[in-house]
Amino acid sequence: MTSEDTQSVTRSSSLALVEITAKTVRKITALKVAPSQQRFVANNATSIAEAYFERGAWFRAIHADDTPVGFVMLFDPSLSGAKPLENGKASDIWLWRYMIAEPFQRHGFGRSCLDLIVEHARSRPGMTDLLASYVPGPGCPRDFYLRYGFTETGRTCAEGSENEISLPL
Ligand SMILES: CC(C)(COP(=O)(O)OP(=O)(O)OC[C@H]1O[C@@H](n2cnc3c(N)ncnc32)[C@H](O)[C@@H]1OP(=O)(O)O)[C@@H](O)C(=O)NCCC(=O)NCCS
Repeated sequence: MTSEDTQSVTRSSSLALVEITAKTVRKITALKVAPSQQRFVANNATSIAEAYFERGAWFRAIHADDTPVGFVMLFDPSLSGAKPLENGKASDIWLWRYMIAEPFQRHGFGRSCLDLIVEHARSRPGMTDLLASYVPGPGCPRDFYLRYGFTETGRTCAEGSENEISLPL
């Protein structure tokens, strides 16, 4: 990421979910959250490596105009070869990874990009709910998601370490 990148992005930049290519992958793996946020989300290189082994994984870079600013990865049970999650419903699509890199946070991109993610989730066959989870604690994204309209399901995941939330599609 160059200082040109941070300067060219504004609140009114246009957001898109963009396929990652051999040409862009290094830029995407270079996107980082703040050190204090690293416990809330895996780094993007790890997520992309995990996706290689998971047929239900669907991931995209988040671009503001032409600048990569973040990363999203879903678990989509409707993808060919996807194995249902343990205790998961076939109609649940999961927001597995979501990050806006530190220099681009608080520009409204996280919220606006959720609109694009919801639009994508609605386009998938048979999906009724978007599920997500967060690691609770100071600085966690709980209020970000609840403000958008997610609600707590009361269930936990990741061996009890994360709280589950959901949004009807
Ligand atoms: C959570 C995250 C994606 C939000 O992205 P963002 O682009 O900064 O969010 P926005 O600017 O669109 O903020 C939308 C609203 O949520 C609020 N908000 C943003 N991050 C928040 C947080 N961590 N906690 C509480 N509220 C938050 C903003 O203040 C804003 O509210 P307002 O409209 O009342 O001012 C980003 O902070 C991030 O990548 N965090 C680290 C990784 C992470 O936690 N990912 C989620 C894994 S479950």
